[in-house]
Amino acid sequence: MSIKPINSVLFVCLGNICRSPLAEGVFRAVWAERGRGHQMLLDSAGTGGWHAGQEPDRRSIAVASKHGLDISGQRARKVLPGDFSRFDLILGMDRANVRDLKALAPQAARDRVHLYLDFATGKAADVPDPYYDGAEAFASVYRMIREASEALAKRLEASVSPTSGQASSTI
Ligand code: 4NP
Repeated sequence: MSIKPINSVLFVCLGNICRSPLAEGVFRAVWAERGRGHQMLLDSAGTGGWHAGQEPDRRSIAVASKHGLDISGQRARKVLPGDFSRFDLILGMDRANVRDLKALAPQAARDRVHLYLDFATGKAADVPDPYYDGAEAFASVYRMIREASEALAKRLEASVSPTSGQASSTI
């Protein structure tokens, strides 16, 4: 297995308005708290482009705001071919996202694509799509993402050398 620096993470869901903007916003805050100053390029995108240019769903903005985070400045976009070279780690919120990402990815970049909860926590589960559900589904998604973000930060911290800023583990 090759040694890969992890300096950039792309969070991906279907529409890039509900789950992945939360995953980006929460991880950005967690990494700012615990990332020991190591710069990490963070972004989110959707496998579908229907909501491109829109701000996150008001229910995601609301649940983030309840926990002290402002994600309203994010704008949805579709996954681009260049994302597979630009990002070291590409995390799909559910298995359909991972399948779609692997189909889009050039062969050489397929190992950058992982199921978000599996990579972060070792639990091979989906973050379910809350789009057609109510506020409780968004609260549940927030809790999953908060827990996964702490675990992801620990995993990425462990791969970043405190002196050189270079990654030292494999993914
Ligand atoms: P997301 O949720 O993938 O978490 O952003 C969805 C947003 C929009 C749609 C589906 C899921 N949609 O069908 O428009």
